[in-house]
Amino acid sequence: MLTINLAEENLNLLFDEDPLKDIFHHDNTEEYLDAVGKVSQAVKRFLDTNKKPFSGVSPAQLRPLFANVDLDSPLMDYRALLNEVELLYTSHAVSFHHPEYIAHLNCPLVIPAIAAEVMISSINSSLDTWDQSAGGTLMEQKLIEWTCKEIGYAKESDGIFTSGGTQSNLMGLLLARDHFSLTHLQHNIKLNGLPPEASRFRIFVSEMAHFSIQKNASLLGLGEKSVIKIKTDRSFRMNSILLEDAIRQELAAGNIPIAVVGTAGTTDFGNIDPLKEIGRLTAKYNLWYHVDAAYGCGLLLTSKYRSLINGIELAHSVTVDYHKSFFQPVSSGAFLVKDRTLFNLITHHADYLNPKDHDHDGLPNQVNKSIQTTRRFDALKLWFTLRLMGKVKLGGYFETIIQTAADIAALLQADPAFELMNESDISALVFRYNPRNSSADLCKMNQFIKKSMFNGGEALVAGTKINKAFYLKFTLLNPLTTVDHVKNIFKIIKQHGNEYLQFNKTTADFRRN
Ligand SMILES: Cc1ncc(COP(=O)(O)O)c(C=O)c1O
Repeated sequence: MLTINLAEENLNLLFDEDPLKDIFHHDNTEEYLDAVGKVSQAVKRFLDTNKKPFSGVSPAQLRPLFANVDLDSPLMDYRALLNEVELLYTSHAVSFHHPEYIAHLNCPLVIPAIAAEVMISSINSSLDTWDQSAGGTLMEQKLIEWTCKEIGYAKESDGIFTSGGTQSNLMGLLLARDHFSLTHLQHNIKLNGLPPEASRFRIFVSEMAHFSIQKNASLLGLGEKSVIKIKTDRSFRMNSILLEDAIRQELAAGNIPIAVVGTAGTTDFGNIDPLKEIGRLTAKYNLWYHVDAAYGCGLLLTSKYRSLINGIELAHSVTVDYHKSFFQPVSSGAFLVKDRTLFNLITHHADYLNPKDHDHDGLPNQVNKSIQTTRRFDALKLWFTLRLMGKVKLGGYFETIIQTAADIAALLQADPAFELMNESDISALVFRYNPRNSSADLCKMNQFIKKSMFNGGEALVAGTKINKAFYLKFTLLNPLTTVDHVKNIFKIIKQHGNEYLQFNKTTADFRRN
């Protein structure tokens, strides 16, 4: 066509090579394979050369390198590009696959899911409508059906892939809010905005629930004050007697309980709230029940530990994060509802995208159930994983992790230099270094240990607070992490702790003299 030829001619004036060589298309497979191959080699170099979980680099060390990067001067060559990316990123990237990375809720990845990422990004389907995804939509739907079945939901259930736990929790609270308003106040929030009563809406969670519940309550116009935190018992699980007391107190004060969020695997302790008991109370008080199983969803994979989340099927809605407990790359989460008709609360029709007549024609437009429009085909990663490896193998990884966490808990308990704070249902252990006869400030010492470990990068652990006191935290999510790896981490912790004690002693002696 004349216009295209003219455009190409113009581009050819600017570049001495094929101006369209960077565009992914049918005549360009060599360039595509070459680029993806080179990047795979760079990832291999990352695996081969980064022997520690982290280089220990500081922002002050890395920032000056960015000053030399001129984004308006393209490098034009993959070798130069990958050298730059190696310098700025991969040589310092934190290695979640490393067995001595046991800090946050990041899992190592299964290779089929990584391979699927190549296809996802290359073909780049958008899962909002059938006319942008076709078979992709049906694959997503089948995986959602599978997850619903694992939860114990009946065929009336449905769900949608999300960017992760925060978004899934937002959807849970959004449906809870709008459903309550419609059924109890005959007020349509989608149409009319919040009713005056919304300032009195109350949501109940355990004090150990993820912070996204508060953040989402505020995004939904209910304010953080709408979230009532229920004290946990000695095992850091929601105390259901206190939950009922709190519901009653809020009712007596003229407030309006709308929902309870139970956590199946708290971020800090990996503990599971009494899901059945909460289900009984939400039924008694006619409240929406959402279960945040972002972490605990891995238990769905294992017959050995599946009973720990019995009661999850009582929830009106559930959050799962495949990118935490199913060994999937970020992002990959899902939001599931027991009754699919409830998605009507958030459905909008746009003439250009998902007109109403598509519904009548039976065209499956996933955007009807999502708060996103353009949406990645994350489901393909899970498809690759389940079809190549199967649930039992994944579940085996999760069982190994739980067993390793239990073995490590026993070691922490047996060692008088450590104080273990919890018995985890899954794999998060909170503890501190507290050697006998030490008069050190324990918070400062354990903060020093964590910081020194991060700066050294030999092994990475996390930290958290209980009653304002600082503790170290292990989050085990890697089946390659063995008890011996963690014994090595104990050694590193003690080394840094003793450095702190020595330094404090020397400083105190110095001050005395
Ligand atoms: C229990 C729980 N829920 C929700 C989230 C948020 O998930 P995401 O980071 O995928 O948004 C987390 C994250 O750690 C979590 O631990």
